Amino acid sequence: MSERSSKAVFLKAYPQGMPREADFEIRETTVPAAGANEMVCRTIWMSVDPYMRGRMRPDVKSYIPPFSLDEPLAGGAVAEVVESNIADYAVGDVIVDFTGGWKEYYVSNGERTQKVMPNLAPLPAWLGVLGMPGMTAWAGVTQIMKPKEGETLFVSGAAGAVGSVVCQLGKLRGARVVASAGSPEKIRWLKEEAGVDAALNYKDYKNAAELTKALAEAAPNGVDCYFENVGGMHLEAALNCIAPGGRIALCGLISMYNNTEPEPGPPNLFNLIGRGVMVRGFIVGEYADKVMEFAGEVAPLVAAGNLKFQQTEYEGLEKAPEAFIGLFRGDNAGKAVVRVGPDKV
Ligand SMILES: NC(=O)c1ccc[n+]([C@@H]2O[C@H](COP(=O)([O-])OP(=O)(O)OC[C@H]3O[C@@H](n4cnc5c(N)ncnc54)[C@H](OP(=O)(O)O)[C@@H]3O)[C@@H](O)[C@H]2O)c1
Repeated sequence: MSERSSKAVFLKAYPQGMPREADFEIRETTVPAAGANEMVCRTIWMSVDPYMRGRMRPDVKSYIPPFSLDEPLAGGAVAEVVESNIADYAVGDVIVDFTGGWKEYYVSNGERTQKVMPNLAPLPAWLGVLGMPGMTAWAGVTQIMKPKEGETLFVSGAAGAVGSVVCQLGKLRGARVVASAGSPEKIRWLKEEAGVDAALNYKDYKNAAELTKALAEAAPNGVDCYFENVGGMHLEAALNCIAPGGRIALCGLISMYNNTEPEPGPPNLFNLIGRGVMVRGFIVGEYADKVMEFAGEVAPLVAAGNLKFQQTEYEGLEKAPEAFIGLFRGDNAGKAVVRVGPDKV
């Protein structure tokens, strides 16, 4: 087989504050033929995820290295194997992995790659409810918060890829679920499709005091479990309402990802002490050994239509920067994905 030309998205400059489309550019690259123990894959769908913003800060040491300006961006993808020198993968297999995003073709060594079951759900679901975001939600619910029947679970960023799964796993465990999201349509979906008990449009509240009042009304017995996706006034309100013995899964702080100045912490941290609250930050990869347990619970729910999910689709690799930036504007309902190529060529 010979080399292929492949369009790929590069960072032209590291974004300052809110990313702009001008921070990205598409370049033509050349992808070599597969070497020994390698395969070449053609990206069908790619994922845009909030954590990628952290990889655009070369000055900040993180759990994952920053993107280089000289290489294509990378991220989760569903792709078709088009050439293979790996015994376990044949041409035509459809796989999901963490590197194939932001480009048309790429070489893979087959590590951290999984074959998808195309009949279980539409392909983008492998980047959402059945993939990394779904696993993140499941880990925070089952390994950290462990909600009990009758307890109250509060979720911020609730209509997104992670939050929407948290809501439903909480309901399945008999919790009273209070959700927060940023548009009337998201609130409607959370109530009517995800089945939450109460949903707050945080944009209706000017500050943490107003959000606290609304949350206290929606959670009259206090918040036993808080799944944190957002930070800022959500964290402050949750700490105001947290119940004695509360558990907080600190998953993400998206409201702060584009900050150019350090943000002061919430002023009510003392509530954690007085109320004996457990706060556990986590990265989904910590729970990699539990992935079969996750799949064992979530895949049958998805197959039976008992776990609802939404996806916001963008058409074409050139839309990837817009899709990514949209994460910070709340443009996506559920999982944001970009179609890079057709299911079959
Ligand atoms: N720890 C881990 O391993 C891990 C893994 C995956 C994701 N995460 C984190 O989980 C969170 C959710 O990720 P996701 O993939 O599910 O993304 P997502 O919720 O599908 O998309 C991002 C959503 O965040 C909300 N948002 C953006 N800016 C906001 C702001 N300033 N204030 C309040 N809400 C804001 C928007 O919804 P609204 O319209 O509701 O504002 C937007 O739709 C992120 O913080 C992410 O970093 C962590």
